[in-house]
Amino acid sequence: MLEHLDRLQPDPILGLMAAFRADPDPRKVDLGVGVYRNERGETPIMQAVRDAERALLERQTTKTYVAPAGNAAFNEALRGLALGEGSPLARSERVRAVQAPGGCGALRLGAELIRVARPDAVVYVSTPTWANHVPLLSGCGLKLERYPYFDAGTGGVAFDAMMGALEKLPPRSVVLLHASCHNPTGADLEEGQWRDVAALLARRELLPFIDMAYQGLGRGLAEDAYGLRLLAEQLPEVLMAVSCSKNFGLYRERVGCLITVGQNGSTAEAALTQLVRIARGMYSMPPDHGAAIVAEILGNAALRTAWQHELDGMRQRILTLRKSAAEALATACPNRDFSHVVRQRGMFSYLGVDADTVQRLREAHHVYMTDDSRINIAGLRVENIPYFADAVARAVGQ
Ligand code: LMR
Repeated sequence: MLEHLDRLQPDPILGLMAAFRADPDPRKVDLGVGVYRNERGETPIMQAVRDAERALLERQTTKTYVAPAGNAAFNEALRGLALGEGSPLARSERVRAVQAPGGCGALRLGAELIRVARPDAVVYVSTPTWANHVPLLSGCGLKLERYPYFDAGTGGVAFDAMMGALEKLPPRSVVLLHASCHNPTGADLEEGQWRDVAALLARRELLPFIDMAYQGLGRGLAEDAYGLRLLAEQLPEVLMAVSCSKNFGLYRERVGCLITVGQNGSTAEAALTQLVRIARGMYSMPPDHGAAIVAEILGNAALRTAWQHELDGMRQRILTLRKSAAEALATACPNRDFSHVVRQRGMFSYLGVDADTVQRLREAHHVYMTDDSRINIAGLRVENIPYFADAVARAVGQ
């Protein structure tokens, strides 16, 4: 049987990770996979995570099963974190939450729920979108289409084109939106634009499916959830896939949550029973450790404050790197405009160079980024920004 299988190319992002690890050059710069790095180039375990793990280790008395929906305290805490602690919706019977194996698991759970509810549903994703959205959402048989999103000329959102396309979608289509820190472009909707999107989705009876993987790493915990909270308040049904990989630094623990808003308690409960069945059929139960850590942090005032403080520091570091990188690029490449780097938010920016330049950067200068020229800003360090800017200048021929 296996001899008939084609050998596949590595995943574009994970393949880059492997190529970077194999490169022996000491000057190498990893702007590929989206993981946060500190000023020493490390992805540290957050102190609040370490403290929570210590407390769990002392307290836990069993490793018996939890449940297909995961840790109830975690699910409750994530409702508050995503929708706002003071929000009546976070406590409403219209809302349900299911722990998932990472944001990817939450996206897949949501896709499977859509397929059960409406097998012929079409999901519209932004152009461009995170490469893994495609297999995650279409892998269960849903059809995927695109709507315009990024304006390469300004480095911002092509808002009129986006609204024009959404206006024409058939009612009941699903629209996948990035809550903030758009992956791969770093171009986010402004608050007024979110209000326009909410009104359009409501009027055209479109279902928002929101991916929130970077809450707290763009403008702040509440600011990054602005659009998600607005849509959850204003629309009858919303799906939200939340990841704790980046903002808790829990990547390998696989912690995420699918939050659903239904029209009333009864439809919300029906959706929950379906999600439990789907989870049981795919992986039975999500891994416990990461969710237990997040529940411990969010449920303990001192740990929560420490975590928020550390997260604020990570966001500030990214903002500082953006500014320094934009300045260094402006000096090294006077004939090119890279000022969008400072206006975009979150871990990523599109550098805006072609695939040949990306290849030259990798082969001649050991600077790694995805072929579409997405750079992980957090992969830069103050010391290597001049090297990076000089490499870009050489690769673009300046
Ligand atoms: C990324 O976009 O680089 C991250 O979300 C990691 C991944 O799984 O692709």
